[in-house]
Amino acid sequence: MSPTPVTFGLPTQPASYSWEATDQEVAARFGIPIGDILRFDLNTSPAPPEIVADILASGAFETPLSEYPPSDYRRLVETAAGVYGVETDELLVGAGADEILDLIGKAFVPPGGRAVVPAPTYAMYRVITEQRGATTVIVPRLGAGEGYRLDLGATRRAAADADVVWLCSPNNPTGLPEPAGAIASLLDDIAADAEVAGRRAPIVVLDEAYAEFVGSSLLELRRRHDNLVVVRTASKAYALAGLRVGFAIASSATIARIAPYRPPGSVSTISMTVVTEALKDPRGMVANVARVDAERERLSDGLRDAGWSVGPTVTNFLLVDLEGPDRAAATATGLLLRGLVPRTFEGGHPLAHCLRLTIRDQAGNDRLIAAAREIEADRADRAREDGDAR
Ligand SMILES: Cc1ncc(COP(=O)(O)O)c(C=O)c1O
Repeated sequence: MSPTPVTFGLPTQPASYSWEATDQEVAARFGIPIGDILRFDLNTSPAPPEIVADILASGAFETPLSEYPPSDYRRLVETAAGVYGVETDELLVGAGADEILDLIGKAFVPPGGRAVVPAPTYAMYRVITEQRGATTVIVPRLGAGEGYRLDLGATRRAAADADVVWLCSPNNPTGLPEPAGAIASLLDDIAADAEVAGRRAPIVVLDEAYAEFVGSSLLELRRRHDNLVVVRTASKAYALAGLRVGFAIASSATIARIAPYRPPGSVSTISMTVVTEALKDPRGMVANVARVDAERERLSDGLRDAGWSVGPTVTNFLLVDLEGPDRAAATATGLLLRGLVPRTFEGGHPLAHCLRLTIRDQAGNDRLIAAAREIEADRADRAREDGDAR
């Protein structure tokens, strides 16, 4: 079998991310009352933890809102370091994982440099690389039958002359973590290759935005590999995407290389206060993970019964294979006409035949299952009519 080719995204025209349509835009375009719009495209959670309402009602924020937030986010840093089991100088706060990824790009992807993106994966790695005027080296992941896991050999080879390697586990949008030991051995191999070549090993970013859903993390590897930066967020399992808080965790020396790029106050006092409390009292997060666990199989089974091919996942989203881009596009339209917003993959994307769907609460998931049944019944009717017409 010939190896899948590695491709290059050139920096002359940065890949851009097209932001998702807002609820208002979807409502206007598909003629749906705005209250009926339900987002299955953003991998968020149906409701924030209960403590948020109390904190907001109390108005007791860490510092007065008339002042700037403390520029070192001290309480949040101390609390998060305790939760993740790291030293305070091994952690850096940003406005969501997205700002953290951007800071990593600024610190480690030089103009004219190279960054490895095992695809399909989270779109921002390529966007950030190309915004820096660097080249994206796209290494295809293995196929669906192999859980879209990394092609370790090809990733290692591409890393040999890269500045940054962007990894994501569990991977968005494919939903599975790398097999046990895979990332550790890739890090070892990259370190060994760098030593032989007499060069500094590339920075390896490990985006663990969905780690809480699997209940494990590779944070410990930072002790052996000071080129590793782990990224975490309050947006997913903690159900606080609107607050925009994320973290970089790495050896103190590596954090010190990112810190100069950090703006002094991109995380608001309200966000800092609420996320500190949510980290201290993780009951909301634990309940959210339990909800996703309970709904994952029920939703997958319901969609399979309706006739959709649902891939395995450990996260709060499903990847549905609709066998071809046309059926994927028609299914997306069918969902949108019912007020349900899927994540689509367009423009030659390797997952153009798929839709990604967030696992929501029971009522929301029931709406999705009912819509899938209707869409498939319509499709069967149309196929019958086409057959009769021939
Ligand atoms: C893999 C991955 N990384 C980062 C992010 C961005 O997270 P945040 O809301 O913390 O910026 C997302 C959001 O979908 C994601 O899926």
